[in-house]
Amino acid sequence: NVGKSTNILWHENPVQKLERQRLLQQKGCVIWLTGLSGSGKSTVACALSQNLHSRGKLTYILDGDNVRHGLNKDLSFRAEDRAENIRRIGEVAKLLADAGVICIASLISPYRKDRDACRALLPKGDFIEVFLDVPLHVCESRDPKGLYKLARAGKIKGFTGIDDPYEPPSSCEIVLQQKETACASPSDMAETVVAYLEENGYLL
Ligand code: PPS
Repeated sequence: NVGKSTNILWHENPVQKLERQRLLQQKGCVIWLTGLSGSGKSTVACALSQNLHSRGKLTYILDGDNVRHGLNKDLSFRAEDRAENIRRIGEVAKLLADAGVICIASLISPYRKDRDACRALLPKGDFIEVFLDVPLHVCESRDPKGLYKLARAGKIKGFTGIDDPYEPPSSCEIVLQQKETACASPSDMAETVVAYLEENGYLL
């Protein structure tokens, strides 16, 4: 039923976004963490949220796994359902950013076009795409939930990186690279994102 609402009108909120942002001393935006399962998205999201919170900034994490427990529990991992998962999270992230919140979305979001569609929902600059660039073999060796093992054994079908695609960003705001030999800590990676926010005027 996407796009089928008719006879609807937009109501203006008398309190403007700028006023909410002034109150919060920050600019609402979406930090979109994308990468393979096991690449560290959730860990970096938590480190980033803690870092910003300790600076008095309001954040909220939308984690793919968590949102699939509620709002998106009707969705599978087929391409159409992943697209719908990402679309809904993109719309919720947009609302949070409009509220003035620094929203941290953390989901595999394997398809470039789905991520680009979310980017298009936000005012220019307010969608900050962060690629957790971790080779598959590193993610697989970590296998924190044992899912790669199940996927290799054919017990999970359509697992990202194994028998389902992952399209890395062709251009994005931040790349957080991890290799076996050079592994930045989650708090260092969070610091890189905070530096970007500071340089680009998101922390007032
Ligand atoms: S997506 O592709 O953006 O819709 O995925 P997302 O909502 O982020 O959910 C990813 C988590 O679901 C678990 N899981 C799977 N991942 C990939 N492919 C398949 N088939 C799959 N089945 C279950 C897995 O725990 C993912 O969590 P992360 O945190 O990424 O490891």
